[in-house]
Amino acid sequence: MIVCVCNAVRERQIRELVAQSDSRVRMRDLREQLGVCGDCGKCARRARGILRDCADCAGDPVAGHAPAGGFAGIPVTAGTTAAGACAAT
Ligand code: FES
Repeated sequence: MIVCVCNAVRERQIRELVAQSDSRVRMRDLREQLGVCGDCGKCARRARGILRDCADCAGDPVAGHAPAGGFAGIPVTAGTTAAGACAAT
């Protein structure tokens, strides 16, 4: 899914940036490296939500997300993708 129309940035690109980064990715990093929010700024809310989502994620930011600790009765292990939970697009 396109997050930033002005710069044709996809959600997957943001998640890949998070996965490749050794430190926490901030909105400033998205703007500098991908151009997110560099023009009209309408993508800010969605981009911020993705970053928040990645910060809460216990799984692979690119493959998919699951809440830290997993879903009720479904433990999350490294590399686990919880079906239906915030799948990367
Ligand atoms: S939609 Fe991202 S800057 Fe316009």
